[in-house]
Amino acid sequence: MPIATDRSSAARRDIGHFSAAHKQSIRRKLLAWYAKHARDLPWRRSRDPYRVWISEIMLQQTQVATVRNYFSRFVRTFPNVRRLAAADEQAVLRLWEGLGYYRRARQLHAAARKIVSEHAGQFPQSVDELRELPGIGRYTAGAIASIAFDQRAPILEANTIRLLSRLIGYRDDPQSSAGQRVLWQVAEDILPQRNAAQFNQALMELGSLVCTPSEPKCDACPLSSLCAASAAGIQHEIPRPKSRQIYTEVREAAVVVRRNGRVLMRQCAPNERWAGLWDFPRFELEADGPLFAAEELMNKLRAQTGIICGPPTLLKTIRHGVTRYRIMLDCYHAPYLAGRVNASNGAVVRWVPVAELPALPLSTTGRRIVSLV
Ligand code: ADE
Repeated sequence: MPIATDRSSAARRDIGHFSAAHKQSIRRKLLAWYAKHARDLPWRRSRDPYRVWISEIMLQQTQVATVRNYFSRFVRTFPNVRRLAAADEQAVLRLWEGLGYYRRARQLHAAARKIVSEHAGQFPQSVDELRELPGIGRYTAGAIASIAFDQRAPILEANTIRLLSRLIGYRDDPQSSAGQRVLWQVAEDILPQRNAAQFNQALMELGSLVCTPSEPKCDACPLSSLCAASAAGIQHEIPRPKSRQIYTEVREAAVVVRRNGRVLMRQCAPNERWAGLWDFPRFELEADGPLFAAEELMNKLRAQTGIICGPPTLLKTIRHGVTRYRIMLDCYHAPYLAGRVNASNGAVVRWVPVAELPALPLSTTGRRIVSLV
């Protein structure tokens, strides 16, 4: 097969147009490989659309090894869509704590409510109807329709993007709209008429275990004889590396203020980074380091919460990253002096009893600060 780029006429002619024999070969070899090498993952033990859905949402931005434990705990607590819909959003966020991308949890909860209110608690089976649900895009709809209902619906996610790009020798940016069009078409074209459930999972598994981002194990790959990148020896160049992320350095402060066995906490507003989660009062600092930060911090605490504190003491600096930000978070302790809570920005501010902190959904750094104090 010729190496393809968006612009080449070979691409337009060949991409998504494997010969019938080539496709048959891909299906046979891939399914045979999967029958031998599929991992025993907790969400693969049933075809329940609820479990498929939860696992696919968790797997969107998180590694299999991390998802395993979260998934089991989640479905133990909320074993079906009705139980999830009946839960409090805070309880859902608490179980999601540490997985990141909390919007996923809020949308999961909203979708559960919609399935109960508009579909009598039954999952819709078509890709189009599934895509009407909050947080379910083309990929997740394809995964649920194929894995739970064995519909002939294609999928395309990180593992399959890489695998299919190599299989067809796609050298351009697979994330571009042209790249996505080509790869969705290939994902659809190679699907068998039956057994899309196994086939799609096999594609993801091969991408995850063999057709890895670096050092792909072509020697162990059942598709290597059918793979354009492997034939040309360019598997390391595909997919084309993303342009390098540019990071913005940010300095932030979080403050622990205690009063009579309670701690000053703030629930992030709907338009904020951790909407719905609780956090210590936190803000960006302009001062360059703790030496100069005291006055700024006291002023910002008052503006954010209404509370006036005394001079803060630095407990620890935590470095962490959120999307394109590299954050230096100075964590302070400060004595309560005066003032009543008066939240700004549509957030909620409360004095929370220390004993209630374990049950409150917190940001990952918020939880670390709890362990410091
Ligand atoms: N990544 C996304 N979905 C997956 C699945 N069902 N199995 C393994 N890896 C995945």
